[in-house]
Amino acid sequence: MARHCMGCHQEGGLSFDLTDYEQVVAVGPSILDAVQSGRMPPFLAEPESCRPLEGSRRLNAAQIERIEDWMAADFPYGLEREAALVPQAEVLNQASEILRTPAFSPDVSQGDAWHCFVLEGDPELRFLQAYSVTPENRAVVHHVSLFSPTDAQSAAQAWELDQGQGYTCFGDTVVPSLLVAIWSPGQDLYHYPQGTGVRLEPGLPLIAQVHYSGALDPGVSEQTQIALQTAEQVDWPVWPLFLLHDSFDLQPGQLEVHSEREMSLDEAITQMGAQDQLPQANFRIFGAGVHMHLMGRSVSARVGEQCLVDVPAWDYGWHDLYFYKESLELSREDTVSLDCAWDTTSASEAVVWGDGLDDEMCGVLLLASPLD
Ligand code: HEC
Repeated sequence: MARHCMGCHQEGGLSFDLTDYEQVVAVGPSILDAVQSGRMPPFLAEPESCRPLEGSRRLNAAQIERIEDWMAADFPYGLEREAALVPQAEVLNQASEILRTPAFSPDVSQGDAWHCFVLEGDPELRFLQAYSVTPENRAVVHHVSLFSPTDAQSAAQAWELDQGQGYTCFGDTVVPSLLVAIWSPGQDLYHYPQGTGVRLEPGLPLIAQVHYSGALDPGVSEQTQIALQTAEQVDWPVWPLFLLHDSFDLQPGQLEVHSEREMSLDEAITQMGAQDQLPQANFRIFGAGVHMHLMGRSVSARVGEQCLVDVPAWDYGWHDLYFYKESLELSREDTVSLDCAWDTTSASEAVVWGDGLDDEMCGVLLLASPLD
């Protein structure tokens, strides 16, 4: 429990506290169900069968069996000394820069809320190597995504929307931008793979998108601190290369409806409108992430027989970036096939691509570094 659950399930967190023995016993059956089904601990991408990933949170069969046996034996009380092992959140020690969102009181009375904040950073060209995110009020922050606007015009549009207060945003930041970092509860400190750094657009601010969930007492605000470690140069400058399936028309009322899309890396760069910023080159790929909205069910990406990322049970609550144990090379002409599936039983009309809460999305992000 301490090693695999309490990092998130502790007092003041987004979900219930599992640091207390009585509490664990009280929710025993739901714990068993959550671990047997693989919902908990949350780690959506297949960590072995697709492409070996770093830092999987998944439990192995022996660990799940241990929980089953413990429950079957009526929860015998453990050793007292183990009870002290509640993990503490980690922060970046040597931050080059610390950004803070303004104090904000999200309205979560009707459900989840999404808000974007434009944050002025150091305008020098830089590569993001590591970051930590520290919400003041953990009970209400489900994830934080950090974006770099694609150009000065997008940044100006974002400032216009922001007005010092931030602005409502759901699927993305409303203005053209590239995703550069994601935080979700359970891990506060992230390092990009050794030698790499994600490129931030020089001279421009960053946009933090905060997903609020849970409950907040009236009048209470939240302020998130984002610490960045950047370098002026790295061996492997990484670009977030986004491959987006944006041309589907899904029938409503379907439990599982698939749609596929193929595109080369060159086409993806054109689709992003990033021909001027992103070199059209062959790439070394260090990791991947996926993005769908609330009806998303599964998503996978392949190049021929090679699997790039496979998320068999999508859950909107768990946006993550997944780092490969070993990077791989792709040619600019390699065709990536995306296979996306949705559950449209909640929809009453055809579901199409879009940014709204009722629209859908399916994309795969590759952490790609150009090769000469
Ligand atoms: C990375 C953070 C994180 C870790 C690690 C984690 N949980 Fe959770 N858990 C959550 C959050 C947040 C929720 C609330 C539902 C949601 O937002 O997905 C939750 C919900 C649950 C639920 C209720 C919902 C469900 O799906 O059944 C159970 C039970 C649960 N967790 C048990 C566990 C157990 C047991 C472990 C360890 C083996 C664990 N969790 C590890 C974050 C985590």
